[in-house]
Amino acid sequence: MLRHDPASVAVSGPGTSVVAMRVLAFAAVKGGVGKTTAAVNVAVEAANSGARTLIWDLDPQGATCHLLGIDVDLKRPASQIPFRKRPLHRDAVKSSVKRLSVIPADMSLRNLGLELEAKKAPKRRLARALDRIAEKFDVVILDLPAGIDLAVESALQASGTMVVPIVPSTLSVRSFDQFREFAAADRRLGKRQLLGFVSMLEPTRHRQQDFYHELRDSRDDVLETWIPATVEVERACDRRLPVSIAFPGGRAAAAYKALWEELA
Ligand SMILES: Nc1ncnc2c1ncn2[C@@H]1O[C@H](COP(=O)(O)OP(=O)(O)O)[C@@H](O)[C@H]1O
Ligand SMILES: [Mg+2]
Repeated sequence: MLRHDPASVAVSGPGTSVVAMRVLAFAAVKGGVGKTTAAVNVAVEAANSGARTLIWDLDPQGATCHLLGIDVDLKRPASQIPFRKRPLHRDAVKSSVKRLSVIPADMSLRNLGLELEAKKAPKRRLARALDRIAEKFDVVILDLPAGIDLAVESALQASGTMVVPIVPSTLSVRSFDQFREFAAADRRLGKRQLLGFVSMLEPTRHRQQDFYHELRDSRDDVLETWIPATVEVERACDRRLPVSIAFPGGRAAAAYKALWEELA
């Protein structure tokens, strides 16, 4: 079986070219910074680009399905999904976007950290669950709750790239640095790619433009793509649609497409 490769590189030999499953975790110490919105819209762009894409909602709030207009009634608690015998993809539901599936969340996920604690090698648990579906998907996106508990840590260990939104404020940069310090302190996580991107930037505010340029000039772990704060995103959320469907050709859709392309 093809194991998923955290380094997510193209594996090629004579006459072969196999691209390993790529796992991106959208995470942050802070809540309300645009993780879920970015995770969903980047997943949509990944699927539109031809990748078989899975988004695994690990946040008890379950906003991923809400944003994609999916209503599910889970038969068993979502927190059990990583521990079940059957492979993960059997718990995924199809979205209205071609090639995009979702593993839904529910409130039981607030206990995932505690449930992991009772298992052997808890930090490797989610990676092991993903290993088993490595042939089913090209891209997996993990939408994580704010903060860093054992469940988030296990998800980060399963990812090849950790993607952190930074809203235009010094406190947000500070929490990005706290996140980086946390990752660097772990032998395995320290080797993962960690990238920030500026989220919810108001382009007409000069202070925020300066913020973006200063951040880009002073460090090499912040992506060039920034996501504008726009009513398109809020309206798409109200209509429970990806921005590229609610506002095709709009600024927000272009930004999430660029974010996917830069990450890919
Ligand atoms: N680019 C944006 N422009 C305007 N509002 C946004 C944008 N991104 C997110 N939001 C809004 O901000 C709130 C928090 O976003 P969300 O993605 O749920 O953050 P998180 O997952 O980090 O908690 C939501 O109401 C969402 O609609
Ligand atoms: Mg969220």
